[in-house]
Amino acid sequence: MNKTMRNVWLPLLLAAGWVGAADLSNVPQLKETPAQRDARLQWFRDAKFGMFIHWGPCSVGAKEIGWDRQANRPWDISGIQTPRTTDPEYDNYYKKFNPTKYNAEEWVGFAKASGMKYMVLIAKHHDGFAQFDSKVSDHTIMASPYAKDIVRAYADACHKQGMKLGLYYSTRDWWHPDYLVGDNAKYDEFYRTQVRELLSNYGEVDVMWFDHVGGQDWGKWKFDELFSMMYQLHPKLIVNDRAAKFCGPKSPEDRGPATPDIAKMTQGDYYTPEGSIGAMDIVKDWESCIHVGRGWSYHGENGFRGPDNCIKMLVSCTTGGGNLLLNFGPRPDGTFADGEAKVAVAMGEWLKTYGEAIYGTRGGPYRNGKWGGTCHKNNKLYLHIYDWPKDGLAFDALPSKVLAARTLTGAPATFTQSDAELAVEVAEADRAKPVTVIELTLEKPLETGKIIGSIHAPLKK
Ligand code: GLC
Repeated sequence: MNKTMRNVWLPLLLAAGWVGAADLSNVPQLKETPAQRDARLQWFRDAKFGMFIHWGPCSVGAKEIGWDRQANRPWDISGIQTPRTTDPEYDNYYKKFNPTKYNAEEWVGFAKASGMKYMVLIAKHHDGFAQFDSKVSDHTIMASPYAKDIVRAYADACHKQGMKLGLYYSTRDWWHPDYLVGDNAKYDEFYRTQVRELLSNYGEVDVMWFDHVGGQDWGKWKFDELFSMMYQLHPKLIVNDRAAKFCGPKSPEDRGPATPDIAKMTQGDYYTPEGSIGAMDIVKDWESCIHVGRGWSYHGENGFRGPDNCIKMLVSCTTGGGNLLLNFGPRPDGTFADGEAKVAVAMGEWLKTYGEAIYGTRGGPYRNGKWGGTCHKNNKLYLHIYDWPKDGLAFDALPSKVLAARTLTGAPATFTQSDAELAVEVAEADRAKPVTVIELTLEKPLETGKIIGSIHAPLKK
């Protein structure tokens, strides 16, 4: 192209996305067969239970990570789209952040003993503070008195102990002066460089967990570059659905995703109901993230959910077809609050007995309800019962013959099966809290991803 042509055509071609678009041929969301996708996602679907960790300088002040920073939040508070401001208190917590008791080996060992199969650690939240040694920012852990790379120790410990490793990265950044209200192209370059650092310097990464870009225009972001880069570095990476979430259409200039591929790819691999159990969905992949304590990050020593509540959340996610990413907010020194530790320990204990009815299963085939839910694996069907129906437990007909029934505590269970229904009984004294789990051995395995009916009151004889 000569100079005049370049001046005239290049901006047009760029705007149309014809020049300079990244090569997306390696992006699995766009090219995989269903079987390849099943293979890539299998460990995640089998895992069911992960540990989310929100932690950083905010923990020093027992403040909510990101949100308790009293400063501008471009595109997250309507009407305030002015340049960055600071919060002298929050923004200085890092000077006191010295987690001398942070022991990543212990964290990972603890998560493992608690039955969690993967972990997701905050590498950078909306407050822009990097818990890793980023070469493109001064606002990092290296500026704290601790001055050691938190992500490094975590990644090494995960690798050593065979824990699947996830990293949370918030594209939304209320610290960086260019994020949405400055020269956003600079910020776009900056955050992709930080993601590249995370995916280049810490060995194998299994999950990239993004958290919103904030409002405005799709045209301000090179998501094609982001995905192409991520999959060059980690071909099997699993990505959540928030890499482009909240992008547009708040701005009149919003052009939407440049191509259908970009729209599809940025949906990632699974969706992320937040703060509650996702509605039953055994077709698409999902993961509920829920905190044990009063917020995502550390808020003191009180106000935690109890173990039974958390066990039931895990069961509801599993039977509903999703995962539970249960969130912990360690203390500023790097230890876990007693209330949180208690939950984790109890879940680990529970899973020793009941893990076979959780891990590796698939949700359904019966519709979930207040009473509980079902899941299955090979020739086993597991009934998870919270509330026993007064008139007895019965389900719509099952398309496989039941050969045997037992509860997972070893207590007997009886059943009757007809063309119309499957009824199951466990003596009241043998029922367990917070959930009774009955294992049915079937003549043949059930199909995955198919709902075949519901619970109902037993038919009259
Ligand atoms: C939301 C919150 C954020 C939290 C995340 C976890 O996006 O803004 O604070 O980290 O949810 O799901």
